[in-house]
Amino acid sequence: MTSIPDLNPPPRILMGPGPVGVDPRVLRAMSMPMLGQFDPAFTAYMNETMALYRELYRTTNKWTFLVDGSARAGVEMLLVSLISPGDKVLVPVFGRFGHLLAEISRRCRGEVVEMAREWGTVFTAAEIEAAIKQHKPKVLALVHGDTSTTMAQPLDGIGDICRKHDVILYSDATATLGGMDVSVDALELDAVSAGLQKCLSGPPGSSPVTVNERVTDIIARRRHVEAGIRPPGFVEGNGPIIQSNYFDLGMLMDYWGESRLNHHTEATSMLYAAREAARIVLAEGLDACFARHRRAITALTAGLAAMGLKLFGDQAHKMPNVTGVVIPDQVDGDGVRRMMLEDFGIEIGTSFGPLHGRIWRIGTMGYVCRKENVLLCLGALEAALRRYGFKASPGAGVDAALAAYR
Ligand SMILES: Cc1ncc(COP(=O)(O)O)c(C=O)c1O
Repeated sequence: MTSIPDLNPPPRILMGPGPVGVDPRVLRAMSMPMLGQFDPAFTAYMNETMALYRELYRTTNKWTFLVDGSARAGVEMLLVSLISPGDKVLVPVFGRFGHLLAEISRRCRGEVVEMAREWGTVFTAAEIEAAIKQHKPKVLALVHGDTSTTMAQPLDGIGDICRKHDVILYSDATATLGGMDVSVDALELDAVSAGLQKCLSGPPGSSPVTVNERVTDIIARRRHVEAGIRPPGFVEGNGPIIQSNYFDLGMLMDYWGESRLNHHTEATSMLYAAREAARIVLAEGLDACFARHRRAITALTAGLAAMGLKLFGDQAHKMPNVTGVVIPDQVDGDGVRRMMLEDFGIEIGTSFGPLHGRIWRIGTMGYVCRKENVLLCLGALEAALRRYGFKASPGAGVDAALAAYR
């Protein structure tokens, strides 16, 4: 007999940089019964999921599907499939996740050139174009919203620049899909990946990706099928084999496409979650969902300002779903976070690297992006700040946020 008690997580309001609270409808979808992976009912769900994510990504890309694993599974699948050893990859780094893209690209044996920028700022299209002209990369790997700094890199015009210079544009939209416009076709993004656990209100564990023909042309030259399932007459690509089996985009296309060649066993419950998460956002309407995120951030930032707090970074390029707050001098940032968690059940985050202990990050994403949570968070933060010696005028934050909502 085990002495370990049943699983009973404490109720929390997750207002950090992700994961955030999961929509109960997604949890319900995850409790649905298993199906065999080639059951026509299940393959129909796979096709529906592809169609839903085409709408979320605003793309007609046929190859829009899920990679099993957290958001970095999608990042890694795209980079390892795109980058052959020796390929040059340009990575503009404006936060922790730019470093991640550079790191993964190096592991793919890419020749990586990093552009550096002070955290809290973003790059201009002109700076990126100048670096492309100088380094002539095959791939530009660009984070859209970097949750570590709360900055959103504008993507307008970058796709056009990449086409002009024959560069493949990959963007990491983990933290923005569903909260900000990621119009893949209009922005001419060639490959994009995301995660469920932020604005899509799902659990971590599935990464929706999309790629266009510029990418599938590259993959055609690297095509490979495992010996045990290789169809008669199959001809391998004459390019270098993709270094990963699990993350081989060509083999994933064979699994998700008409040929339905067996690859991994699709994570059934995660597919149910991803399908329901996308359905919920589209039922609300993408533009309505973006507007809800903008309203929350307007109220939250009004409240923070009224409490006498300073926001972090270039506010013109702030993400509309995560807010960086400078921890006031002499305030114990971890103490404030601990009190918010223990006394109010609200989680907010700190950050990484140079920003660790310097900023808090407050997420208003997906299912938790609601007026009542914004107000509760401000009230709790005010109480915790006063406890730690920072004199926020009582009620000012909540009043300002309420006024902004009105
Ligand atoms: C921009 C960005 N990229 C990638 C990741 C990695 O996602 P995961 O932890 O789901 O693998 C995150 C996670 O916060 C992120 O914010």
